[in-house]
Order: sequence, then structure tokens, then C-alpha cells
Amino acid sequence: MCRFSLGLVLVLFSAVSGEQQHDYKGYSVHGVKLQNRADQRFIQTLESKGVDVWNYGHPLDRDALIMLSPEIRTEVLDELDERDLTHYLHLANVEEALKKHEEEINEWKSTNSRNSRLFPFQDYSRYAEIDAYLERVAAEHPDIVTLVNAGKSFEGRDIKYVKISTTNFKDSSKPIYFMDAAMHAREWVTPPVALYSIHRLVENLRDQDKDLLENIDWIILPLANPDGYEFSHENVTENRMWRGTRSFNPEVSATCYGADINRNFEPFWGTIGVVHDPCSLLYPGSEAFSEPETRIIRDIMLEHLDRIQIYMDMHSYGNWVTFGFGNETLPDNAVHLQFVGSAMGASMDPLKLPEADLYKVGNSALTMYVTSGCGQDFGQTIGIPFSFTLELPGYGFGFLVPPRFIEHMNSESWEGIATSARLSRTYYSARMRSES
Ligand SMILES: *[C@@H]1O[C@H](CO)[C@@H](O)[C@H](O)[C@H]1NC(C)=O
Ligand SMILES: *[C@@H]1O[C@H](CO)[C@@H](O)[C@H](O)[C@H]1NC(C)=O
Repeated sequence: MCRFSLGLVLVLFSAVSGEQQHDYKGYSVHGVKLQNRADQRFIQTLESKGVDVWNYGHPLDRDALIMLSPEIRTEVLDELDERDLTHYLHLANVEEALKKHEEEINEWKSTNSRNSRLFPFQDYSRYAEIDAYLERVAAEHPDIVTLVNAGKSFEGRDIKYVKISTTNFKDSSKPIYFMDAAMHAREWVTPPVALYSIHRLVENLRDQDKDLLENIDWIILPLANPDGYEFSHENVTENRMWRGTRSFNPEVSATCYGADINRNFEPFWGTIGVVHDPCSLLYPGSEAFSEPETRIIRDIMLEHLDRIQIYMDMHSYGNWVTFGFGNETLPDNAVHLQFVGSAMGASMDPLKLPEADLYKVGNSALTMYVTSGCGQDFGQTIGIPFSFTLELPGYGFGFLVPPRFIEHMNSESWEGIATSARLSRTYYSARMRSES
């Protein structure tokens, strides 16, 4: 039954969007003013036409941003006009922006390596550099860091995470804070924040943060989707906007690779906010947990479920802290989720650069867009009390944040993480008391 309907959907969609690999010649990004929720929902429907929605916007407050290929531009802009949606050109030439981005990255690497060696969290580091950093931190701090090789990606890269604990994960009175980054390949600003968090806890623990190391156990997975991430680095002008994994199954598609990890979980997998076309950015995979990368995150959660108090799934961009569920239903503890998310936002906002928006906090479906099968919802459903998606700033550049912003992004985001970690401790202690 499932297979049959999937097959049908594939046939229907394959004519629409065609191949994934392309250069960005003639691509442009357009801003759209949103008056209400219906406008915002309409933006999401454009995804099934192959539109890459950079930002879903928020009515009367944040404009949506959509990337259009020359093939569909006229049709989509006409449709916006028909609906009386005001729109404007935001970025006329994506190809040129990608070239400039690549130059900025090369310049950053060469200038900084002349002056001093960059830490991997001060740069858009490659898989091998991130891996070497994890190995080194674990080797130099065996008393508090345990490196875990969780398994292989589709292309066979080891997916590693660190466990950080002063009590070797044996003290059940401590909550676990589980953070991951780069489920989506193009969200390059997220691994630096994960690596910087490791740095602050292990190599650069400051007096004011000692409680974070002593009272909390940490699981930090800086590169959830190494294949997609490496692919996006290999040829910046062509592959920089890659989002999914790099799995390949000729029985599903002979031309298109990968699936969206953040649509590949349960619950209600494959139902809303997805496009069942293997060539789409929003392809949820052939079934829930089809991707080895998704299974690794699931298994970390299940192994430590009794103590994970917060799951923080880091994405970019747009300054959001969101929580479940993607079907517009609120979890029972929504008030507390709102509280912790707002406290995070409140500790990051005062540090923000003028280029960034203030953080917005809320249910992911009610503030942004509906989804099924995302990590945030999986964590919440299986019993992680605080399961969040954090959308880091884009500083007006969307996914193409110039590397000069990385340092600020790291220190600002760390403050939010620290705040949520302290609250996780408070709530976890209360939970332990009520359960005993
Ligand atoms: C990168 O793109 C260029 C231009 O299309 C192509 O010639 C080259 O082979 C690509 N390189 C890689 C490593 O994909
Ligand atoms: C939305 O999802 C949650 C979590 O899976 C579920 O408990 C709830 O019943 C769903 N709500 C609707 C209206 O389907």
C-alpha cells in the first residue's frame, strides 16, 4: 500500500523538478511580504514546484525569501501577483554570490593561516579537520572526554560524537544535554558552534561556567551529515546549497541522491511538509529512518533517554528557537518549552549584531511551517522533555554567512546554550524529586 502510493507520487513529480545538480546560472532570490498565516502557508506550497525556500518568513514581520531558477521564475512571480503578494528582488545573481562567498572563504583561510593556525571552530572546516579536532580533544582530556564512533554514513565516513562528563556518565543525578549540528549540509555555521561548545567546556572552561561541566553531562555531535557536508564543500559554486544526505538507491531514483534527515524520523513520517520526490530538497527518504545518519541520532537518544533533558538540534538560519509538534499540536509541557526557549533567546539577543534579527520562540508549525518526521518531534515524542530546533543567524546572507561572523556566532550562541543547560539542570532536579 505504502509502496504503491509512493510509486505513484514519484511518477507524478518526476516531470516537475528533474535533476538536482546544477550551477546557479540565472538563479535569483526574491523577498515576499506576508500579511497572514495563509500567505505563509502558500510559500510552503511552492516547494512542490521545486522552489528552494530560504526563509518562510513571519506575517507582518519577517519577509519570506525564495530562490527561483530562470525556468520557474515567471510562473512563480505571476502566481505571487495573482495573490496580491508584494515581492521584490533580494539577490539578483545567486551564481555571483556563490563565487564571492568562495573568495571570502579562501581569503579567510589564507589570511588567518598566515597569522596563526585557526581552530576548526573559527572556520568552515572540512570533515578531516573536525575529526582530527575531536580525536585530539579526547586524547588530551581523557579524564572528561570520551570519543564515540557511532557508525558510518552512507558513503562510509565515521560519524563521531564526544561525551563530556566529570563523572564518566555514571552519575544519574545529572541531566544530559544532547546537541547536534549540520543535519542539513549547507548550514555551515552550525558545526563551529558545536565545536566551540566543546572548546568552552573542555579547553577553555571559564570560572562562570564551571557548573556547566560539573553538573551536566554533554553529548555533542558536530557533524550529523558528513557526506552532504563534504559534498557541499567540494565545489562551492555548484554544491554549496546541498541540504540532504548522499544516499543513492537506483530503485528509487536513477538521477537524484540523498534525503532530508530532518524529515526522515518518526512521528507521522512522510505526511506533511515533505515532497515525495527524490529530487526534492524536502524528500523524507523512502521510509522513516532510511538514512544511516538518522538512525545514529535516534540511537543516541534511545540509549540515553532516561537522562537526556534537552535535545538541541542546530540549524540555520533565521534566529528561531522552536519546539514541537510539526503538526501544530502542542506538547503537554509547551509552557515550559516556551519558557526555556525564551530564556535562550533573551540571553542571545543582547549580544546580537545589527545584521541579525531578534530571536523568535514558539511551536515550529505555528511560527514557521508544518513538518513531519523531524528530529525535534522525535525527541519530544519519545520523552525528552525539552526538544528544540535552534536556527542560528544568517546576518542577511542566508546560508552564505561570510566567515568573519563565525567568532561572534559562536560566542553569542554559547550564551544561549549555557542558559538552556542551566535550566535543564533545574527542571531535571525537579523531575528526579517528583519521580522518587
Ligand atoms: C566543479 O565544477 C566545475 C564546473 O562545472 C567542474 O568543471 C568540476 O569538475 C567540478 N569539480 C568537482 C570536484 O566537482
Ligand atoms: C500531532 O503529533 C503528536 C505527536 O506525535 C500527536 O500526539 C498528536 O496527536 C498529533 N496531533 C494531530 C492533530 O494529529
